[in-house]
Amino acid sequence: METEKMISSRKAVRQYNGQITDEQLHKILLAGNAGPVGMGEYDNYRLTVIQKPEVLNKMSGIYDAPTVIVVSAKNPDTMEDISAGAIVHNMELAAEDQGLGANYNMASVGSIPSDVLPDGFKAVFALTVGQTSEKFVPREISMDRIKTNIVK
Ligand SMILES: Cc1cc2nc3c(=O)[nH]c(=O)nc-3n(C[C@H](O)[C@H](O)[C@H](O)COP(=O)(O)O)c2cc1C
Repeated sequence: METEKMISSRKAVRQYNGQITDEQLHKILLAGNAGPVGMGEYDNYRLTVIQKPEVLNKMSGIYDAPTVIVVSAKNPDTMEDISAGAIVHNMELAAEDQGLGANYNMASVGSIPSDVLPDGFKAVFALTVGQTSEKFVPREISMDRIKTNIVK
């Protein structure tokens, strides 16, 4: 999808009807790795892909998503929160560019079992993803959805 169309078609999808393929997952993870992080310190972050039903069942607020990708960080602070947002946003775009449904997810962060995360890392942000029957068409986005002042 071309960039401008992708940006206006992107949306939060909370209804999923099937698991993603490993090839689709690969493209999403590649996009996550292409995301910017503060100071370029990529080793401060980890991605954990959760597809195991027993683990997903313990997590809240994930809308029965068949895949949740968690961004965790060593010492989460503002820099890590923002970087995790950039990583998740890249992954969301890569998922929806493939026609998958995806959404940013903070709701599950506190319920992610710590034993699935690498030692010393804490969950910061997550992406829910799965097959969807929703269609992606460019949306009319109002210029004042986010109130803006221009200083010049
Ligand atoms: C930091 C952040 C946290 C979010 N957490 C959740 C969440 O936990 N659950 C959820 O359903 N949506 C979550 N969202 C999605 C927003 O609700 C959604 O992006 C917003 O309502 C705008 O809708 P749109 O993405 O369709 O334009 C989150 C989005 C962001 C940026």
